[in-house]
Amino acid sequence: MASEKPHMNLAIIGHIDHGKSTLVGRMMFETGAVPAHIIEGYRKEAESKGKATFEFAWVMDNLKEERERGITIDIAHKRFDTPKYYFTVVDCPGHRDFVKNMITGASQADAAILVVAAPDGVMEQTKEHVFLARTLGITQLIIAINKMDMVKFDEKRFNEVKKDLSDLIKMVGYKPDEIHFIPMSALNGVNMKSVGPETPWYKGPAIIPALDTFKEPEKPTDKPLRVPIQDVYSISGIGTVPVGRVETGIMKKGMKVAFMPANKDGEIKSIEMHHEEIPQAVPGDNIGFNVRGIGKGDIRRGDVCGPVDAPPNVADEFTAQIVVLQHPSAITVGYTPVFHCHTTQTACTFTELKKKIDPKSGQTKEENPTFLKTGDAAIVQIKPSKPMVIENVKELPQLGRFAIRDMGTTIAAGMCIAISKKQMR
Ligand code: GTP
Ligand code: MG
Repeated sequence: MASEKPHMNLAIIGHIDHGKSTLVGRMMFETGAVPAHIIEGYRKEAESKGKATFEFAWVMDNLKEERERGITIDIAHKRFDTPKYYFTVVDCPGHRDFVKNMITGASQADAAILVVAAPDGVMEQTKEHVFLARTLGITQLIIAINKMDMVKFDEKRFNEVKKDLSDLIKMVGYKPDEIHFIPMSALNGVNMKSVGPETPWYKGPAIIPALDTFKEPEKPTDKPLRVPIQDVYSISGIGTVPVGRVETGIMKKGMKVAFMPANKDGEIKSIEMHHEEIPQAVPGDNIGFNVRGIGKGDIRRGDVCGPVDAPPNVADEFTAQIVVLQHPSAITVGYTPVFHCHTTQTACTFTELKKKIDPKSGQTKEENPTFLKTGDAAIVQIKPSKPMVIENVKELPQLGRFAIRDMGTTIAAGMCIAISKKQMR
């Protein structure tokens, strides 16, 4: 296996129908991860089912419902290689009903491609995904301005969309000058490996070479092991196999681990990645691992695996710094929306609004405000409705960030800055 190359988790984000799955299918085809005859088979099948042009998207969209509706519902993981890296692509759904799945995807990513269709430009989930990507800690971004064939590869339209996107990403703290904006057509394979004759005015790299300009993500191997559990399988002949991404630390065979808040202990028997057994797993690895001493029903999505001598922190309460993205009225004490943090979704109550702050300088604007509204940044006290693992963002940033959702939209995002721990053992 090509594990000699550094590994990157790459999220594909953006508004519904802007061509995310098509782009991933096309990238996998161009890098040799999917052979031409498979695409040809999908093309025929898609055509016969009245879904012509979805052949590349189908590489990613495997669920029957996804294919019938022509949309992505759950996140899908696929692998492909560039000269420098090997990527696990996390293809996110753009539909507003599935933003919670997008959050799980984005929280696993080291970098992202934001896909924006040139005819539409910036849309609602373009904004929501950019905000979430930033607050979930994705620092590296490439922007694919897709469907350029539909605007006749017009430079003027490209520049309009680029301008709107620059304004948007600047607002959340990305630096537009450091980001590649790439005109392309995923469906027609334009500007994938090299810049084609369709865009003679474009001076930057094509998308696949641009991926190799990402900086290698840091591997926090010196921190305690943390693997938020995404799913738990029971495989006959093997036993219980939780899957998830290693956020920090190293997992080795024979290690004694604890799952929190389930408060169950076990021993690592084997570790697998991309269907191959590996001796140890490091940050960024998406793994399945077999644990002795744990039954399938003992643990679930949202639990976090760590060493028995440094188990994940379960919060009785925590202090958070948040930014309110959108709320129809006002957030007050007693409000109990759902917090999405690593792989957990837990209802949590605002128990105190400590202060409003200036998001840029961090200066206090108002002590003990009575409410928070759209655009406010604040320090607040939060009480989870049931035990939940969260870590101080200063110690383990990967497990300290969260999104807050209610009524089908993202209300706010933030990070945990202090914890009062629940005594578990
Ligand atoms: P969700 O996952 O549901 O958010 O959608 P998506 O962003 O993954 O879009 P998808 O890849 O499923 O593509 C949606 C439609 O746009 C399909 O009909 C594609 O064939 C079409 N499409 C994608 N890329 C291009 C392109 O470059 N040009 C044109 N003309 N159509 C494209
Ligand atoms: Mg899709």
